[in-house]
Amino acid sequence: MIDPKTLADRFPGDFLFGVATASFQIEGATKADGRKPSIWDAFSNMPGRVHNRDNGDIACDHYNRLDDDLDLIQSLGVQAYRFSIAWPRIIPEGTGPINEKGLDFYDRLVDGLKARNIKAFATLYHWDLPLALMGDGGWAARSTAHAFQRYTKTVINRLGDRLDAVATFNEPWCSVWLSHLYGIHAPGERNMDAALHAMHYTNLAHGLGVSAVREEYPNLPVGIVINPMHIYAGSDSAVDQEAGERAFDFHNGAFFGPIFKGEYPERLLSALGSRMPKVEADDMAIISQKLDWWGVNYYTPMRVSDDPTPGAEFPATVSAKPVNDIKTDIGWEVFPEALGDLIRTLNERYSLPDCYITENGACYNMGVENGVVDDQPRLDYISDHLAVTADLIKEGYPMKGYFAWSLMDNFEWAEGYTMRFGIVHVDYETQLRTIKKSGHWYKELAEQFPKGNHKAG
Ligand code: FCB
Repeated sequence: MIDPKTLADRFPGDFLFGVATASFQIEGATKADGRKPSIWDAFSNMPGRVHNRDNGDIACDHYNRLDDDLDLIQSLGVQAYRFSIAWPRIIPEGTGPINEKGLDFYDRLVDGLKARNIKAFATLYHWDLPLALMGDGGWAARSTAHAFQRYTKTVINRLGDRLDAVATFNEPWCSVWLSHLYGIHAPGERNMDAALHAMHYTNLAHGLGVSAVREEYPNLPVGIVINPMHIYAGSDSAVDQEAGERAFDFHNGAFFGPIFKGEYPERLLSALGSRMPKVEADDMAIISQKLDWWGVNYYTPMRVSDDPTPGAEFPATVSAKPVNDIKTDIGWEVFPEALGDLIRTLNERYSLPDCYITENGACYNMGVENGVVDDQPRLDYISDHLAVTADLIKEGYPMKGYFAWSLMDNFEWAEGYTMRFGIVHVDYETQLRTIKKSGHWYKELAEQFPKGNHKAG
């Protein structure tokens, strides 16, 4: 176990340590103060979609425990909090009337952070699309991108004066491929044509969102949070290496290409371009506006081999075996080196702005025993990934902060409440929060910052 003070010496004094959450995963109060359903409310009420048929009705009851939770964040000694805003609280039908009470909640949240001297990192879209927008096709419809632009303008107009940074989207890979091609997340679609529409309109919505932020507050740092895959080819063979390149273009290039280069990858276009929606004249310029920062969410690498099945759909890959057997309780391979390889590869291929690790953390489900949660493996996971981050800083990469996923155990999407990622344990019966061993360790590290001397060794 790395001593937090020794680790702290490896980071510059203005490096931000934070914790992260998302609205649907913690808020509960899904019917309060004018909120209407999102696609996740509907999805989690459909049998067979979410483990145990869990839903977000109560979650961590954060909506009703805001002040206590802000005190909890402060007690962890962190400088920043990453949270997301629930579109169905702000514009409950996606388009149409604005709900002032929804805006009031985030007003209180942001004011509460300022009062505690904690920086506010807001995400505009962390997957809770207003259900009413499905009537037009959801993310497969161009109109949703315009609805997102208006929602963004509404939020930023109210909160932009007090936010420290804003991200348009969280993990477009999930809201596009996982939600529209693999059917695992809401709306549970399994269709390449729908997924390609969601891809382009999500990218477009991101660009329109950037414009909306800048119209309201030109100096507010705006970015996007992506979960790029670090792809390892299953072997050195030419076919597997080529499979790795196709996987890169599909999983990463579909977003990094348009956003950071103003173009979709060649391989993706030649395989699937005819099934994409029409790209209008200004779309690529809107999507590729220069960003102030980007966020990386990293948990585990992706290992792929060529899929030899004749006619296999692009990217025509199959999963390859992990190289080590260490897995978290959700089954994800632990491989910290991949975080370093990922950041190096992406910076080689694209010209990227300042970077925050907006999510990193591990699922371990141990509970409270005698008032204590001994989650040593999570602590090791976080400290190993922070050591890689410190290496990247030493190599000159502009890594500016790290947000642990998550502040507390919460609704883990299709896995429901069984999978726990918090550095704080939540007892869902009593809503009691217990800081885990990893949380105490993280606090010791975080409270060393900000340091006077902004240099790292
Ligand atoms: C990411 C999500 C986040 C959380 C973690 C474990 O993909 O952004 O909401 O579920 O995984």
